[in-house]
Amino acid sequence: MKKIIIFCLIAGFVYACGGQEQSSSSKSKSSAATKKSAELGKSVYKTYCLQCHGAKGNLRLNGASDLTISELSLIDRIEVISNGRNTMLPYKNTLNDKQIAAVSRYLETLIEK
Ligand code: HEC
Repeated sequence: MKKIIIFCLIAGFVYACGGQEQSSSSKSKSSAATKKSAELGKSVYKTYCLQCHGAKGNLRLNGASDLTISELSLIDRIEVISNGRNTMLPYKNTLNDKQIAAVSRYLETLIEK
């Protein structure tokens, strides 16, 4: 009887450790995905947005908004980037959803704190 209890304890211990290991490995996987998306956002920005907004977001060429003082929410940025606004061109036919989301997030890194 005692043996069974000890076995259960050990089995439970191993199971708990196994479970923990699994959750920590999925955590590192998602942070790798975040990093990948940040890189994607940066490369999209450099390819499509730099010529008007500049490397730092404050070039304001062609009447472009100063992105370092933008107060738009993530959703609003996605909206402006997807559908355009005045002289800002829509990018929904040029970029896919993932690229638009990534570049919208990247803009947060340009905002002056
Ligand atoms: C041809 C020049 C041009 C390019 C290229 C361009 N933009 Fe713009 N962008 C503008 C202009 C002009 C505005 C201001 C629009 C207005 O007056 O309503 C603007 C506004 C914005 C805004 C709104 C900011 C705010 O606070 O209102 C965001 C966000 C933005 N651009 C992101 C981007 C991103 C991301 C890209 C690349 C995918 C990009 N832009 C490429 C010209 C450009």
